[in-house]
Amino acid sequence: MTAQNSAAIVLAAGLGTRMKSALPKVLHPVAGRAMVLHLLDRLGELKFDRKVVVIGRDTKAVTDAVSPIPTAIQDPPLGTAHAVLAARDQMSEFDGDVLILFGDTPLLTRQTMEIMLDARRGAENPAVVVLGFRPNDPAQYGRLVTGSGGALEAIVEFKDASPEQRDIPVCNAGIMAVDGKHLFELLDAVDDDNAKGEFYLTDIVAIARARGLSCAVTEVADEREVMGVNARAELAIAESIMQERLRDAAMAAGATLIDPATIYFSFDTVLGRDVTVGPSVVFGPGVSVGDNVAIRAFCHIEGAEISNGAIIGPFARLRPGARIGIDAHIGNFVEIKEALIETGAKINHLSYVGDARVGPDANVGAGTITCNYDGFFKTHTDIGAGAFIGSNTALVAPVRVGDGAITGAGSVITTDVPADALAVERNDQRHLDGWATKFRARKGAEKNKKKKG
Ligand code: UD1
Ligand code: MG
Repeated sequence: MTAQNSAAIVLAAGLGTRMKSALPKVLHPVAGRAMVLHLLDRLGELKFDRKVVVIGRDTKAVTDAVSPIPTAIQDPPLGTAHAVLAARDQMSEFDGDVLILFGDTPLLTRQTMEIMLDARRGAENPAVVVLGFRPNDPAQYGRLVTGSGGALEAIVEFKDASPEQRDIPVCNAGIMAVDGKHLFELLDAVDDDNAKGEFYLTDIVAIARARGLSCAVTEVADEREVMGVNARAELAIAESIMQERLRDAAMAAGATLIDPATIYFSFDTVLGRDVTVGPSVVFGPGVSVGDNVAIRAFCHIEGAEISNGAIIGPFARLRPGARIGIDAHIGNFVEIKEALIETGAKINHLSYVGDARVGPDANVGAGTITCNYDGFFKTHTDIGAGAFIGSNTALVAPVRVGDGAITGAGSVITTDVPADALAVERNDQRHLDGWATKFRARKGAEKNKKKKG
């Protein structure tokens, strides 16, 4: 479905004081993406006609993050109804359905958004549809007061609720779908005569009922979906729920996760079929993995593209711009950054390859380092097809090693190596006959003398 003739208003002007952070609350990341952007991603899938994010003062960072989606400013924040009113200009002459969401609920699914909009267009044509849930611990949530037949009559905030009302198990999750023809006239009637002295969005239900409009509740099955993040501990819970979803999705799409609970994904990680991921692997943003790839234990991978059949790790680090070709092998304690490793190339042990190309079937020996930075500029290293880089070679960029060339172990390569040549850069080896025997005799004698003395 698409959200035809619908608009979405995301409220994100709250102060977020409990995060104790210089970063606005809704920009704290879950699975590598700002909370509010998770919500906007889901909204994006539904193709709303209009979207607006309501922000508070000093929130250039939020404006930049949500761009090109427009923002409206609510300053000072005087409550959730007041926040929606701040979006009045962006909603002018709009009489479709308006979905109102909270910016700090990153786990809300597209399905729930669709169900809300469907309910708003239901047979009884409710002016307001509220998302309800039955939390294990109803704590401070608003309670949904229903009349005979289960119709929604009012939402009573916890602080204003009577003891009987506090016993109501169904709470307000905070998300509403409202008929745009009535939204602003209902909001205009809200006052701040309540325990918190705020303009409550929740009051529009009783106001609508008093005007003879019907209101409805849609219950969400999994309360975790509507959890709001107010403090760091809740951020950690949201992260773990999101990780669980990402792991389940990866397995459902054909990846084997040896120990799922120890594997961390980003919101955008893409895995092919028959990928096996070993324990304790972390995916940062921007990773795509082809089919039949093995990622062994303890790898850290971000901004990398891994092609079919490659083997990564254990203990490999792929940094942004690492492009690993078909059937290439990246082994233990190897770091790759901004480098193209072509088909069948092998870098199996203890190496740093940055700002480079490694040609097809090249073999990069243990301890090879591309010296890509002189303290001022980064420069490029090019290793040709089938080249063999001896162990502990330092390749001082900019430098090229031709196709099929070999570098001797321990060499410091500072000038281009022609194709099929051997480049060796080290002193000739000398042998001093009998030196070791004499050395042991001398040192042994010294040691005995010390002991006696
Ligand atoms: C709100 C609901 C409550 C519901 C709960 C669910 C109201 C009055 N109460 O309470 O019924 O059970 O959510 O989590 O709506 N915001 C603004 N401007 C403001 C105030 C808030 O933009 O002036 C934004 C916040 O950034 C946040 C959202 O609105 O994203 C909710 O505000 P919050 O203060 O957390 O409301 P609750 O007290 O949790
Ligand atoms: Mg809240």
